[in-house]
Amino acid sequence: MFRPIWGAATSAHQVEGNNFWNDWWAWEERGKVGERSGLASDHYRRFREDFKLARSLGHTAHRFSLEWSRLEPREGEWDEAAFRHYEEVFQALEEESLEPVLTLHHFTNPAWFAEKGGWLSSGAAEKFSLYVRKSVERFGRHVRVWITFNEPLIYIYQSYLLGRWPPGEKDFTKALRVFREFLRAHAAAYKILHEASSNPECHVSIAHHCMALSPCRSSHPLDRLSLFLREWFINRLPFEALMSGFLFFPGVFFEKLPFRRTLDFLGVNYYSRDFVRFAGFWGQNQFGTVCPREHHPREDREFNDLGWEIYPKGLFEVVSSLKRFRLPILVTENGVSTPDDRQRQRFIRDHLAELGRAQREGADVLGYFYWSLVDNFEWAEGFKPRFGIVEVDYPLQSRRPRPSAEELRRGCGKLFGQRETA
Ligand code: BGC
Repeated sequence: MFRPIWGAATSAHQVEGNNFWNDWWAWEERGKVGERSGLASDHYRRFREDFKLARSLGHTAHRFSLEWSRLEPREGEWDEAAFRHYEEVFQALEEESLEPVLTLHHFTNPAWFAEKGGWLSSGAAEKFSLYVRKSVERFGRHVRVWITFNEPLIYIYQSYLLGRWPPGEKDFTKALRVFREFLRAHAAAYKILHEASSNPECHVSIAHHCMALSPCRSSHPLDRLSLFLREWFINRLPFEALMSGFLFFPGVFFEKLPFRRTLDFLGVNYYSRDFVRFAGFWGQNQFGTVCPREHHPREDREFNDLGWEIYPKGLFEVVSSLKRFRLPILVTENGVSTPDDRQRQRFIRDHLAELGRAQREGADVLGYFYWSLVDNFEWAEGFKPRFGIVEVDYPLQSRRPRPSAEELRRGCGKLFGQRETA
């Protein structure tokens, strides 16, 4: 059904710079994080240069997000200059023959939306739907592949359970309400995108964060039980709900959507593995806890500079476990933060090898996006983490592709085909 695509991903707030009108900017202004996004990677002005680089590195596609707060800075006021800006972005991608993969929500909300209660306020999904409709009416002809929400569970975890991201809540019940609202908003967006897109092809999904999981104590039956439940909850539940049209969470809510299946493919973000330990039978505990590094089984393991384990086999495990949904799979993000580009080269080579293995064993893999194209603002962690295949010198805002960019070209070229040279 799809042409294979590959390249690298970004998100608006992390690269554009000066996103004054969203809730993250306000959070930064309130001193809730160590560093402010400021100019970020100045991509709002340098997108042409960045797309030229992506093309020179062989990419066939580029994943990025629209910034809702730029398009609708105040409720009901649509900013024509911002629409024109993104129109230029689509044109620039076209000039470089890069297919856009478009995300509608990547962790940020307009400040006015957040002030009204954000995803907990009544009519949140409807407000989001208006933005989706405006976006598809304006940009629909350019876009074949849509992502409604990036990592809904990570957003909920950070913003409503840990309280590290805006709005800084720590409340399991609120977290579940937001989860339900996201699923409703996705289903509504799916319908709008299919009805209003003028593109003959329109494929819609979410980009879901999937973890590889292993038990802390491999022979402990309760650790295995927690692992099974956690796997179901964090890797499968959103996909299950959107495939079946039933929004459910045992004992908390159950709702039927007006339509069944609202996924055309599965978008998967994969980074790392967690070890899971039994923590009890009730509430959040039934999904176990993640055991700290010193309690992991002793094996030779490697970590990135954020302390996340590098576990390439996990990409094979995750992709293989999703075959049961019988939908094509797009790896919407996979990447490593490291000051050592040799580690990034190995990361890319080993993960692509595992993806190839999953493909040979029957997974229908549409493509792969490395996170990220350029170094950028890593949310609460600021600018220190370096994920890019292109290095950014922030004071100068200059770009320099890292050798790992060639590893990506080689690996993806082998898996999905080289792009024709211009
Ligand atoms: C997110 C990105 C983030 C990356 C690295 C993903 O979970 O979509 O926004 O920068 O991980 O943490």
